[in-house]
Amino acid sequence: MIDKSGSALPKHGVPAEQVLAEIRQLRAMDRPTHGGRLFAYVYDPAVPGLDELAAAAYAESAHVNGLDPTAFPSLLAMENALVGAASRLLGGGPGTSAPDVVGSVTSGGTESLILAVKAARDARPDLAAPRIVVPASAHAAFAKAAHYLRVELDTVPLDPATLRPAVADVAAAVGPDTVLVVCSAPSYAHGVVDPIEQIAEVAAAAGVRCHVDACFGGWTLPYLRRLGAPVPAFDLTVPGVTSISVDLHKYAYAPKGVSVLLHRDPALRAPQYFAYADWPGYTMINPVISSTRSGGPIAAAYATLRHLGDDGYLELTRRTREAVRELAEAVRGVDGLRLVAEPESTVLCCTTTDSGPDLFVLVDELAARGWHTQPQLTYAGLPRSVHLTVTAAVAPRAAEFGPDLRDAVAAARAAGPVALPPELLALAYSLTPELLTVDLVAAVAAGLGLGAGGGLPDRMAPVNTLLDAAPPAVRERLLVEFVSLLQRPAY
Ligand SMILES: Cc1ncc(COP(=O)(O)O)c(C=O)c1O
Repeated sequence: MIDKSGSALPKHGVPAEQVLAEIRQLRAMDRPTHGGRLFAYVYDPAVPGLDELAAAAYAESAHVNGLDPTAFPSLLAMENALVGAASRLLGGGPGTSAPDVVGSVTSGGTESLILAVKAARDARPDLAAPRIVVPASAHAAFAKAAHYLRVELDTVPLDPATLRPAVADVAAAVGPDTVLVVCSAPSYAHGVVDPIEQIAEVAAAAGVRCHVDACFGGWTLPYLRRLGAPVPAFDLTVPGVTSISVDLHKYAYAPKGVSVLLHRDPALRAPQYFAYADWPGYTMINPVISSTRSGGPIAAAYATLRHLGDDGYLELTRRTREAVRELAEAVRGVDGLRLVAEPESTVLCCTTTDSGPDLFVLVDELAARGWHTQPQLTYAGLPRSVHLTVTAAVAPRAAEFGPDLRDAVAAARAAGPVALPPELLALAYSLTPELLTVDLVAAVAAGLGLGAGGGLPDRMAPVNTLLDAAPPAVRERLLVEFVSLLQRPAY
């Protein structure tokens, strides 16, 4: 037995087998990454042998450094192959209307998006206060990019019926300082594809770059289309699209740490690079944010793509689509629930009706039955909802979901809604981030059962209810403090 805070630097080294046993024991605390019952954070194709292949490929290149492609041509070759595959899948490459596509392999969706914003910003050094136009449904990574890069966000509201921005509102938000217009294919929260052709046209007419965030869906939408789904044009086949990102660690089912950012041509990519020769060491030329980069994730992604192949992805997408259909049927069949959007990709998003149970209690009841879904808080007139990222591994489990969902709804109804102490709720409504002292947050955390020792309560509904009542700026502050309570050194 080890305790959770086993020292990472023991006085004497520990035998390999024991160390691995310790890690396995720690991993037992986690949500299940395999088995098709976790609907966020992980992407599981449930293909026998794939994990072992990816791990072996990872190990082959773990110590290779992406810092210098001339020293490690193996990594350059694999990166170029990944960029080529993504480009082909997303409408670029020889013989297409986007023959000069170039790209970079990054560590994930957030890095790809930060770099798309950096490239757009640095292409306009004439602007003192650059701005980007983002639909409210755009991934939070754009806000992070804006924050890191000192770019202003112009957020376009969503039409509550379509969960998309109105094209006229996007057009109205574009101004002389706009360096980038963003759209999603699809959005993470609801899984809907923005009107990309029209938005790209607006951007092109204004002479502004347009980035399609296909981090989530870029590897499935082309296959969904081949399977007959009505997928609108969203990629490099759309003339005004200047860049697009797709995460290989999502629906390409590669281990974590790999995304691809594509630009329509080399000139668009040029300002993405950072180069520095004004110091006594090596000249640094980085296409991405990290300098030293492990070859492990890249080799693992390369192995995954080659092993699964185009026909493999088509079959995995077919299974995923079938699972989405079954889960949606299950939701439709339960009184008190409704789909927030008709599924058009691989996301299922549902909410409760007026006569339904407390949504956050339902999420806990589902978790108690082994189904781990992701609650989404009320936002700008949109209801609180439950998000399910559906992957191929869900297909064999999907038939079990309906009965458990009905059961969980009945249990949530029987339990009744979360009743927080009125003074706590009143506090959430009235707080401003400035009023939140560390002591106050610690008191709130303790009141909700969030221990300073890193413990989380079994039931998260009270925490979600409190967060739901608070405005976004207070949610942010509370969660930063909660998480910082968890992140303490273990000696
Ligand atoms: C649409 C979209 N963009 C960007 C990201 C960010 O990706 P990452 O978590 O790999 O940084 C996500 C993650 O879910 C996403 O769904």
